[in-house]
Amino acid sequence: MIDHKIPDNPYLLLTPGPLSTSKGVRNALLQDWCTWDDDYNLEIVQNIRGRLVKMATKDIEKYTAILMQGSGSFAVEACLGTAVAGDGKVLFISNGAYGQRMIQMAERLKIDYVKLEYEETKTPGLDELEQLLQSEKRITHVAFVHCETTTGILNPLQELALLVKRYDKVLIVDAMSSFGGIPMDISKLEIDFLISSANKCIQGVPGFAFVIARREQLLKCKGNARSLVLDLFDQWEQMDPSGKWRYTSPTHVVRAFYQALTELENEGGVEARLHRYQENHRLLVEGMRSLGFQTLLSDEVQSPIITSFIYPDRDFNFKAFYQKAKQRGFVLYPGKISKADTFRIGNIGDICPEDIKRLVAVLSDLMTLKSEEKPAAQEEVL
Ligand SMILES: Cc1ncc(COP(=O)(O)O)c(C=O)c1O
Repeated sequence: MIDHKIPDNPYLLLTPGPLSTSKGVRNALLQDWCTWDDDYNLEIVQNIRGRLVKMATKDIEKYTAILMQGSGSFAVEACLGTAVAGDGKVLFISNGAYGQRMIQMAERLKIDYVKLEYEETKTPGLDELEQLLQSEKRITHVAFVHCETTTGILNPLQELALLVKRYDKVLIVDAMSSFGGIPMDISKLEIDFLISSANKCIQGVPGFAFVIARREQLLKCKGNARSLVLDLFDQWEQMDPSGKWRYTSPTHVVRAFYQALTELENEGGVEARLHRYQENHRLLVEGMRSLGFQTLLSDEVQSPIITSFIYPDRDFNFKAFYQKAKQRGFVLYPGKISKADTFRIGNIGDICPEDIKRLVAVLSDLMTLKSEEKPAAQEEVL
């Protein structure tokens, strides 16, 4: 007899993904599906595609959703490789690792580009962007990350989008860690391609990502792709009428995502989810500051998604701190920036304010223990 009981997680993942999922989502993984029947293709895949578009905009007829196997980066690469024609030129605006990854992709795909790079703690400058849009006439597309998960900085989506559209460029937004957690109407923002993945704010499990594309723009992309597998247009052409994926569909993950969407709707939608994340974030920052930690970013640019904290002193041993926190039920995340010693704590996933209160109590214990420990004893934990 198979035991279908879903075990409790031994710890909560306070990370940018994969992140903690609900029992309902994990339970939904337990059934096998055949990919040639309507109960999968129509009732699950097509249903998901429709719900994603509805979540993104009220102008549902103008947009379409394409699901792509793999992690978020696969959809980013598929999108860049398909959306930009051979003679296109992309302006990348980058203030973190995921902006840099898009630039790396352009290099590999031999896509012509220019870039505006900023420090990881600074949001992009609109004046500089405008100057470049005026001077570099060959730019056809502009791409940037909405919430740079590297630090947790929230880039000014509306201001950037407005400017890009004033110069009539195709707009690509990596909203990997914000879509489903921060409300937006992509039609009002005139976003042409928005990219996100199953295991971020929608709180599914990892295994596929998606692009929500403006139909009119997508239709111009036939034959652009530099890759067979990551051809977003071909994937859409097959998936749109039938719900069929071109290659093996991650069926269990897709079914779990369907459940995750239902749970998001039951929670009250994206507004309600944002509210929970904001409350998690507020309690986290308040608690961490009371323990002597400082945030890397100023409050004005900080997202409610993930927060970077600066090491409290030079002797701070993150590895030991991490191990002890994990033993007590919480997985933290190392920092990703070069200029400061930081670590990160995420608020997204199946995490509620009570969890954050418990986390702060645990970290408070660890800080008390730390100040009582001799350095030699601390090293033993590693
Ligand atoms: C903003 C952003 N873009 C891209 C990615 C890449 O996604 P993946 O690691 O799933 O390939 C991530 C991952 O956290 C992200 O946060």
